[in-house]
Amino acid sequence: MKDFRAFRVHLDGDRSVARLERLRLDELSAGDVVIRAAWSGINYKDALAATGKGRILRRYPLVAGVDVAGTVESSADPRFRPGDAVVACGCGLSETHDGGFSEYARLPADFLNPLPPGLSLREAMAIGTAGFTAAYALHRMEQNGQHPGLGPIAVTGATGGVGSVAIDIFSRQGYRVTALTHKPGAEQYLRSLGASAVQVLDGTALGTRPLEKAVWGGAVDNLGGSVLAWLTRSVVPLGNIASIGLAAGPQLETTVMPFILRGVSLLGISSGDVPRELRIALWQRLGADLKPAHLERIIDREVDLDGLPACFDAYIDGRVTGRTLVRLG
Ligand SMILES: NC(=O)c1ccc[n+]([C@@H]2O[C@H](COP(=O)([O-])OP(=O)(O)OC[C@H]3O[C@@H](n4cnc5c(N)ncnc54)[C@H](OP(=O)(O)O)[C@@H]3O)[C@@H](O)[C@H]2O)c1
Repeated sequence: MKDFRAFRVHLDGDRSVARLERLRLDELSAGDVVIRAAWSGINYKDALAATGKGRILRRYPLVAGVDVAGTVESSADPRFRPGDAVVACGCGLSETHDGGFSEYARLPADFLNPLPPGLSLREAMAIGTAGFTAAYALHRMEQNGQHPGLGPIAVTGATGGVGSVAIDIFSRQGYRVTALTHKPGAEQYLRSLGASAVQVLDGTALGTRPLEKAVWGGAVDNLGGSVLAWLTRSVVPLGNIASIGLAAGPQLETTVMPFILRGVSLLGISSGDVPRELRIALWQRLGADLKPAHLERIIDREVDLDGLPACFDAYIDGRVTGRTLVRLG
């Protein structure tokens, strides 16, 4: 191969500048497996990286994109052979290593998961880091005693990538799910994914007491800030809250009361820190019992590399619904 196209972020003074450019393989960060990329997808973090609204890259320049799926072209690692279908999510892509918005990727073999039997490359990227994180949250919560009998699961940032997949897979596992959204027009979409109730958060009184009426069996939180604080105060005894995102802000003001009087657990979810064996096992489940039942509905649109740069502002403004796939092949 001569050269190929990639969406790369540079630092220009103290401003990050992202653009499509042509690269050669030897310009990518080191790795023992070369992948012909087929699909990627957009995550909130990609929008932060591409717009410079958040400091995601820890060195410059780097190809953006935290996810990629494709076919092995060549491998110096015996675990992978040309033709193998593989998926890479997180693992430092677009932070310390060139990422997935590229026609080719060169990655350390440890970053790669074999594509699970139940998924196509396109489906794997429809799930992406967003869906993987939702599955990891379910795993952590259930390891810590979550079960449908505890009551409904509140999912915030419900129309986003993590939220949409969380609604789908939690409801498929027998949980009642209440979708919490800022989009009044999203009720039909959210119910179609499996939500049994939808609450529009704008104007909701979140209360100020150290403990509110306990109404949620548990929660999957993508927002942080005052909504997460309210969730800590309104989850039932022994319920779990998976703290995933900060779309509304990084602050958390609460008291110890939910933890010491109700035994509520606040579980930190860091999808980049999942041990490799568990990562592979969760991907296998995402192709089997945790495979989202409504993936095609969750895919909001497909773009190619030319269409990618125009996508990011909607993520920053919270206007996105579902997942955006990026066609690379
Ligand atoms: N911890 C991890 O490993 C991990 C992994 C993946 C993602 N994340 C984080 O999880 C969050 C969600 O990621 P995503 O990929 O699902 O993002 P996304 O697709 O952009 O969805 C985020 C959703 O949050 C709501 N939202 C956005 N901006 C908001 C604002 N300013 N105030 C209140 N609500 C807002 C919107 O939903 P509604 O309109 O329905 O409320 C939006 O659709 C992000 O913070 C992301 O960085 C963390």
